[in-house]
Amino acid sequence: MVSRRKVPGRKIKRKIAAGPKVPAKSGSKKLQISKAANRSKKKYGAAKKPGSKKSNPKKPRSLKDALKGRLTKKEFSFLRGSFDTLGNIAILEIPDELRHKEKIIGNALLSVNPSLETVCMKTGAHEGEFRIEPVKVIAGRRNKVATYKEHGCTFRVSLGRVFFSPRLSTERKRIAGLIKEGEVIGALFAGVGPFPIVFAKNSKMAKAYAVELNPAAYEDMLENIRKNKVESKVFPILGDVRKVVPMQIAGTCDRVVMPLPMGAATFLKEAIMCLRLQGGIVHFYDFVRKDDAPAGALDKIRPAVEAGGNSFRLLQWRKVRDYSPDTIQVVVDFLVE
Ligand SMILES: C[S@@+](CC[C@H](N)C(=O)[O-])C[C@H]1O[C@@H](n2cnc3c(N)ncnc32)[C@H](O)[C@@H]1O
Repeated sequence: MVSRRKVPGRKIKRKIAAGPKVPAKSGSKKLQISKAANRSKKKYGAAKKPGSKKSNPKKPRSLKDALKGRLTKKEFSFLRGSFDTLGNIAILEIPDELRHKEKIIGNALLSVNPSLETVCMKTGAHEGEFRIEPVKVIAGRRNKVATYKEHGCTFRVSLGRVFFSPRLSTERKRIAGLIKEGEVIGALFAGVGPFPIVFAKNSKMAKAYAVELNPAAYEDMLENIRKNKVESKVFPILGDVRKVVPMQIAGTCDRVVMPLPMGAATFLKEAIMCLRLQGGIVHFYDFVRKDDAPAGALDKIRPAVEAGGNSFRLLQWRKVRDYSPDTIQVVVDFLVE
């Protein structure tokens, strides 16, 4: 999952204006962006220079603009009005009806958004226990490794090999703000490491254990720990939470975060097992019916806590996002006593 961005006009223009500075070396991002920009110039004429009096009426302002004359009216009706971005990579959904035009659409998107280097299209849904979303490059540089920045941290994300969601960015900052000095954190389902690394950079935690099962995500996490210089605080562990927790983490944590939205309830036993004998806090993510929040989640927490002979107190809960017309994702913070 990646951030969703509306296509037309103004928003894209803002993104261009605020686009990242890129190095000018040969083979660098700038070269690639220039190629995309040149392609666009050839097709549509040069863009208006800031301060110049003459504007170029041919310069397209949106993906739809750029595709005028290249898609039929019927094809336009299938075009999705939004796309996702992760750093300099855009990820589009292209319906079957437009697959024969995928390169044209990809190049059109590059032409209106010079801060993008690569356009990928989704070729399937999130799959398997690693929650991987398959993608393929349809335009620009043939690169599926995104560089994404959040809360003062930089992340390598190997698209198509790992799960990553910028949609939980607010959650990462929120929890970092709750962590007290010296806390030990259990960061389960760590992926490429966004939760523990944002905590390391934005709180006074002592350390975090970051457990991940997907070897590709673990590799990205190792690189991200190094890149962000948090080696003394984030301890990556490759393995299954069900095996790693009892053997390496049980009884050591003050706080546990479990961002596994589908099926996290089946890991509540391990999350609680991470906590010190005197208890601690769990941040539990779940999908519930809109009219059953937070009760739907509490009904899963209660039996798991009571099975271990403990009790719990609801600290707070909040909606993370809408999922479908009648389902929302929630996070429930609870204290195990
Ligand atoms: C929804 S993703 C969250 C990734 C990351 N925390 C983020 O927010 O981007 C869930 C992650 O849990 C991992 N995972 C799934 N089952 C696991 C298990 N039994 N033990 C450890 N990790 C697991 C998946 O490979 C995936 O990277």
